[in-house]
Amino acid sequence: MDASTVGLRCAESSRRAGLRVTPSNCHPMTELVEADRGPVVPGSPPSNELRRLVGRCFWGTNRRAWRALPARTRGSRPMQAYGRWLHARVGRRASRKMYTGTMFLRNRPVLELMGRLAAGKPERSRMRVAVLGCSIGVEVYSIVWALRRAHPDLTFAVVGSDMSEEVLRVAEKGVYGPQSSEFVNAAVFERLTEDEAQELFDLDGDQAQVKPWLREGIDWRVGDASDPELVATLGPQDIVVANNFLCHMDAQSAERCLRNFARLVAPGGYLFVAGVDLDLRTRVAVELGWKPVEELMAEIHEGDPSVRGDWWPWEWWSLEPLDRRRRDWQIRYASVFQIGPS
Ligand SMILES: C[S@@+](CC[C@H](N)C(=O)[O-])C[C@H]1O[C@@H](n2cnc3c(N)ncnc32)[C@H](O)[C@@H]1O
Repeated sequence: MDASTVGLRCAESSRRAGLRVTPSNCHPMTELVEADRGPVVPGSPPSNELRRLVGRCFWGTNRRAWRALPARTRGSRPMQAYGRWLHARVGRRASRKMYTGTMFLRNRPVLELMGRLAAGKPERSRMRVAVLGCSIGVEVYSIVWALRRAHPDLTFAVVGSDMSEEVLRVAEKGVYGPQSSEFVNAAVFERLTEDEAQELFDLDGDQAQVKPWLREGIDWRVGDASDPELVATLGPQDIVVANNFLCHMDAQSAERCLRNFARLVAPGGYLFVAGVDLDLRTRVAVELGWKPVEELMAEIHEGDPSVRGDWWPWEWWSLEPLDRRRRDWQIRYASVFQIGPS
């Protein structure tokens, strides 16, 4: 079996299992809009019925009108501001849940930037990388693959951490197939080319085992990203990656995590943090003096189709379009920051 078949099988088996895997998506569809459209329960108080009807009408009309607008009008300043207002409303009212959705090479410009940052390291030096909320490990293997092939002269000490023991068991084994896509409800191989899959895996039937040179030297740790003891446990890191899990938390917990990450990054190191409320990240970044990395910023912003496209502003995890007309655009849309003195 070749690599493309492994990928295809994943998407197919997920569909067969009735999972809601849309192309390139590893997030749940928000239940807010559905809830607002939900059936009027007989016997519920009239004020509730009325609220539900108004909500149904409001979201339905907005969604239809938004879709009918030409892209240029949607991109205008007033419409972007209206979109942000809608998105904030969705975020406030959505019932957020944690998800484990992930995929190999999810955001290529992120990997490219990590490679460029590592290029600044002296020859034969050691770089510490911590990937928090790593789910079943495919993000960790993607990073290790990108860094080790670009810089065979450097040593990368990598920690993959998640609060779930169950996902880490899969991560540590490093064997992926249709069962993995079903487990995380996302087509994990979808973004890989056949050549890349050949480099990453030893293939056996519909199972793909991550190659030993990528598995070796990874430390898998169960841990909570908001734990203040994280620095003591893991030690300071040159790169901390915390992608696509803060958006599933309430604002207070997400802020606690953000502040914790800043302590985990060694002075002059880098924090990669995407999939988080932009207002919150901007506020914390300004307050703590994080320096946005402008290199590849726009590419990284557009680099994960799971969160861009038509999802915004209707899904709480969706990402607003990058708007250079905003005065704070560099800090708002950066998802990579240098922390502390360089
Ligand atoms: C949607 S997955 C993201 C996987 C990967 N980071 C990516 O971007 O593809 C979210 C993961 O974050 C983990 N997670 C959620 N809250 C966490 C926390 N407080 N500490 C550590 N991991 C957490 C979940 O268990 C889940 O595996």
